[in-house]
Amino acid sequence: MSWLNGRLEAQVGDITTLAVDAIANAANTSLLGGGGVDGAIHRAGGSDILRECQKIRQEHYPDGLPTGEAVTTGAGKLPCRYVIHAVGPVWQGGENDEPALLAAAYRHILDKATECGARSLAIPAISTGVYGYPPEEAAKIAWKVLSARIPKRRDPHRVILVFYSQQNLQIFLNSVPIHP
Ligand code: APR
Repeated sequence: MSWLNGRLEAQVGDITTLAVDAIANAANTSLLGGGGVDGAIHRAGGSDILRECQKIRQEHYPDGLPTGEAVTTGAGKLPCRYVIHAVGPVWQGGENDEPALLAAAYRHILDKATECGARSLAIPAISTGVYGYPPEEAAKIAWKVLSARIPKRRDPHRVILVFYSQQNLQIFLNSVPIHP
């Protein structure tokens, strides 16, 4: 499925296998890895990524990367060139600024991809796993931020939303406007 003249796509896949310029990671504030897609990226990418994350943490975010923010590292052994580590909000019922923080995470992922000159960018469903964000609500936020901002910039030219299951992709498709 694609929108915006093919500049925004949604597909099922394992983000660690995609040979795009940059992939986004659903990280946590420690930047020290974890489970889910964070664990998959560190496992497949190798220790270079963790070393870079530790350096960024020590030099710039000694108290941890704030929710909604993103930082860029190399990709180690992954087929992509950059990993953009973004911290999405933990779902706490929706009254703790979760929508604004999730929107900020998508905005900053896009900005970091532009900054590193990534022509192609893949993004997983931030916060919808361990962090418990309702996928229907998260889909609307991802769509709102990306559909508004992608047309206003040259890079990234191609953005792919990557879902780990057909079911998760379908929830996204059912939650966003399907332009012809
Ligand atoms: N490729 C694409 N998507 C994936 C992959 C993968 N290899 N592995 C998991 N996912 C999907 C999950 O199915 C979910 O839909 O990524 C989405 C985000 O889920 P999580 O990885 O659990 O991320 P999140 O909900 O943002 O929680 C972040 O989990 O892994 C820890 O260190 C991480 O503390 C952080 C927290």
